[in-house]
Amino acid sequence: MERFDTVVLGAGAAGMMCAIHAASRGGRVLIVDHAKAPGEKIRISGGGRCNFTNIGTSARNFLSNNPHFAKSALGRYTQHDFVALVEKHGIAYHEKTLGQLFCDESAKDIIAMLMDEMARAACELRLKTTLQSLERVEGGFAVTLGGDGAAKIRCRQFVVASGGKSIPKMGASGLGYQIAGQFGLTVTETRPALVPLTFGEDVLAGFRDMAGVAAAARVSCGKATFDEALLFTHRGLSGPAILQISSYWREKAPIRIAFLPTQDVFAALRASRQDNGRRSIANTLGDILPKRLAAYLADAHGWAGPSGDASDKKLAAIASTIQGWDVMPIGSEGYRTAEVTLGGVDTSGLNSRTMEASTVDGLYFIGEVVDVTGWLGGYNFQWAWSSGWAAGTAI
Ligand code: FDA
Repeated sequence: MERFDTVVLGAGAAGMMCAIHAASRGGRVLIVDHAKAPGEKIRISGGGRCNFTNIGTSARNFLSNNPHFAKSALGRYTQHDFVALVEKHGIAYHEKTLGQLFCDESAKDIIAMLMDEMARAACELRLKTTLQSLERVEGGFAVTLGGDGAAKIRCRQFVVASGGKSIPKMGASGLGYQIAGQFGLTVTETRPALVPLTFGEDVLAGFRDMAGVAAAARVSCGKATFDEALLFTHRGLSGPAILQISSYWREKAPIRIAFLPTQDVFAALRASRQDNGRRSIANTLGDILPKRLAAYLADAHGWAGPSGDASDKKLAAIASTIQGWDVMPIGSEGYRTAEVTLGGVDTSGLNSRTMEASTVDGLYFIGEVVDVTGWLGGYNFQWAWSSGWAAGTAI
């Protein structure tokens, strides 16, 4: 029987952060993962450069049944604290857009930084190791591990940092939700989020010709609205604006797409008509939109003939269609490509300062497994760092 103060399940962003802080306070900490390397999602994130935080992070960038829950951890370990850690390790970074901070070189720099901090704090890491059983015993937990790090362990604290269900091929398992259930905690409905949306054959037939076309758009669903790029693909719609709205979209609801959201499209169309009324409407639209998109919209809506023949009323109608196009997704690409899982361990059963379960002393949930889901743009990692820190410093 081995003894540790704390066992952390999952050597991802949240688990490593928690292990570092729990061990630097003097505790004996073991972190286990069934993968063969730690931080696999960090490695592939941000196109290999890891969008590790967002300088504008606040609780309003997150979805949760309790929108206030994330405030405590995000407010006590902020994006600025993480940037300070990145700078302490001499990792060069840059802001790409909208406050999103990326490594200049490689996401592997962030993993190396966390590994370095774990080594300094003397955390023990066991890879290719599975959790076989977890039971409550007097003063803590009895843990049975299998695989390379097989052992029978007693610990006082057990931290679940096993992430969500997205990208099962990379080791996502859903085990965290089972552990929550085992200890009587509620798990809210989970669904793929930050994921491309799919469409029925009727809509898709037109989209296929535009695969690869990107355009600036304002995409809305209900009250949620995002102004970012939209990308047509062979399977439907993707790009940051669509990934963002996918977290808010529900079955049988349309999404509204406004191309050129900040432009006066009617004025632009009138000006082109004035300059050269002999050009077709599709060509005129091609001055302000990607040409393939202009041709598709003109064709789909029957906007034929030269722009000189179009009345102000018709141009206004074209402008309002371009800026208010309703399309009905039929689904999403699912966990296979989703960046995150929406929903998770219900925050009503957790202490927002410490991330400890209110009904089970010593059991903690951090990171993506919790019902706190960030927008696209570095927010999900910031939640992993902040919630990991909150638990690690409370242990
Ligand atoms: P995470 O999933 O990172 O770690 C969980 C760990 O637990 C894994 O190492 C896993 O192997 C382990 N585990 C799971 N089940 C287990 C079991 N049964 N037994 C043992 N171990 C188990 N976010 C962001 O802010 N900026 C970005 O640039 C990106 N980019 C990005 C790209 C892609 C392709 C994806 C899929 C996701 C992103 N994200 C992102 C989201 C981000 O990766 C995610 O929110 C965090 O990794 C969540 O951190 P966690 O530590 O909670 O889980």
